[in-house]
Amino acid sequence: MSVTVRPARAEDVPLIFENIGYWASQGRMLVRPMQNIFENLRDFFVAEVDDGSGPRFAGNGAMHILWGDIAEVRGLAVAPDVRARGVGRALVEACEHEARRVGIPLLFAWTYEVEFFERCGFTLIDKTRDLHPRVWSECLRCPFYVGCNENGVVKRMDGVPTPHNLPEPPPAQVPPGIR
Ligand SMILES: CC(C)(COP(=O)(O)OP(=O)(O)OC[C@H]1O[C@@H](n2cnc3c(N)ncnc32)[C@H](O)[C@@H]1OP(=O)(O)O)[C@@H](O)C(=O)NCCC(=O)NCCS
Repeated sequence: MSVTVRPARAEDVPLIFENIGYWASQGRMLVRPMQNIFENLRDFFVAEVDDGSGPRFAGNGAMHILWGDIAEVRGLAVAPDVRARGVGRALVEACEHEARRVGIPLLFAWTYEVEFFERCGFTLIDKTRDLHPRVWSECLRCPFYVGCNENGVVKRMDGVPTPHNLPEPPPAQVPPGIR
């Protein structure tokens, strides 16, 4: 079975929406409105698998730039019937490639799947301190805004320098109880 990853297209959005919706209904990730997917479509990658009968949708993931020194892997979801076959890793690698392409030195993710991200070279961080102020950008629309139980993981893009001319980011909207 081959796995390929490509930038998402408009016609992929119903499948991405359905896939994220499935995992959100399982409590594994935050639901994402279809409008949000369209508005951020250039962040998204789609994975396809081919077992000899032609390519079929296998999952999606997005790299969303938060500030000049950090981007987030978000909306990562592998179709239930093709898990544990390298699709998730391939999607994360596409996000890493994109971060390097645009000169972002750090990738961040909120997740329940710490071990998966560790296998992809990420490190668990202490979310009670030292978090970049921009990583809270989606927390306001999360039902767990207060009492967040996700983990923060990061991966540095070796060889990608922090841009030298970055202004201070706007202040964080940190959920109560985090700091
Ligand atoms: C988590 C998820 C993205 C992993 O994708 P996947 O295609 O099944 O994972 P891969 O086959 O690419 O696995 C890569 C590595 O991580 C490991 N891994 C994957 N899921 C794991 C898990 N839940 N626990 C421990 N290790 C895991 C694999 O064994 C593999 O290890 P290797 O380095 O020995 O090869 C996928 O299961 C998924 O979509 N889950 C539901 C939605 C979700 O939780 N998304 C993440 C939101 S941040």
